[in-house]
Amino acid sequence: MRGVRVLLTGATGFVGSHLVERLCASGADARCLVRAAGGPARHPLPEAAVPVEGSLEDAAALARACEGAEVIMHLAGAVKERRPGDFTRVNVEGTRRLCAAAAAARGLRAFVHVSSLAACGPSAADRPREEDDPPAPVSAYGRSKLAAEDCVRASGLPWVIARPPAVYGPRDRDLLMVFKCVARGFDLRVGPAVRSVSLIHASDLAAGLIASAGAAPRSTYFLCDAAPYPWDAVVAAMAAAFGTHLRRLRVPRWALLPAALLSQSLGRIAGRPSIFNRDKVREIAHAHWTCSGARAARELGFVPERTLEEGIAETAAWYREHGRL
Ligand SMILES: NC(=O)c1ccc[n+]([C@@H]2O[C@H](COP(=O)([O-])OP(=O)(O)OC[C@H]3O[C@@H](n4cnc5c(N)ncnc54)[C@H](OP(=O)(O)O)[C@@H]3O)[C@@H](O)[C@H]2O)c1
Repeated sequence: MRGVRVLLTGATGFVGSHLVERLCASGADARCLVRAAGGPARHPLPEAAVPVEGSLEDAAALARACEGAEVIMHLAGAVKERRPGDFTRVNVEGTRRLCAAAAAARGLRAFVHVSSLAACGPSAADRPREEDDPPAPVSAYGRSKLAAEDCVRASGLPWVIARPPAVYGPRDRDLLMVFKCVARGFDLRVGPAVRSVSLIHASDLAAGLIASAGAAPRSTYFLCDAAPYPWDAVVAAMAAAFGTHLRRLRVPRWALLPAALLSQSLGRIAGRPSIFNRDKVREIAHAHWTCSGARAARELGFVPERTLEEGIAETAAWYREHGRL
């Protein structure tokens, strides 16, 4: 990517912070759309990255940001709703506005759009989702990510859609709750007893997104570890990283909704969105969230660097070093 002019959105977020680090390390000329008043937990940009002030709501700022870009990597999005309507406003309308600005950028050769497995929905127990399966999102978040994909597909841009499953790694706050429980010796199980998931470490995902920029336009890829994991294996990797022996605690299905409503209300009082909310319960009710990375391996040569055990150990060490546990 040396010398390539890349515009990133969402570089101050969890996934974006890993991507912008990798882009800068590869010598890319990285420009980042940064909100003047951003979220409370934003990550600082590397020194080599150039901030361009603006938001997905500001068409003029988007036009300025897109000028001269050879590659646009669009990660900005609402993963939780701070205010009702955020999913549509940011994920759908924001993407549509960015696509319109990108269409005016001469010399653009790739528009990499970061979607999500949530746009496709859960999988069967014995068959990970593949890119051409008909999507069936089960949450409002997933439906907004699918609608954003539709905007990108209709844009006429040289688009590539990347769909990660759950992403973990240093700086993540969503799986932190599970790491915290395991560090204290608890294996807290919510929803179905047998679960399986696809995962990817944020730094591996960054490598996959960079590989996607060189893909044939109009391609869609799941970017994930080679095989899905039984949830037991994920928890076992965390327990090995902390050296804990686990006691299992089960949260029955009937308790999920009241717990989500309580968590949402507490979040509202504290002025921040809760990760455990009604929309999340709709996703948790499904046992299998898996996808196949075979197409990305075949067409992009993308194979994540880390094993699950290595990635989890690295993440646990980061949480410990940064006092997050
Ligand atoms: N994390 C996962 O497990 C996961 C899994 C699959 C897909 N994804 C997708 O990956 C992308 C990044 O997710 P993440 O976990 O890194 O989220 P995140 O940590 O919440 O970061 C979101 C980023 O988007 C920016 N943003 C939000 N609203 C914006 C707006 N209106 N205008 C401009 N920028 C805006 C935020 O800026 P501020 O810093 O200013 O708030 C931040 O940089 C999202 O598109 C998400 O759907 C994530």
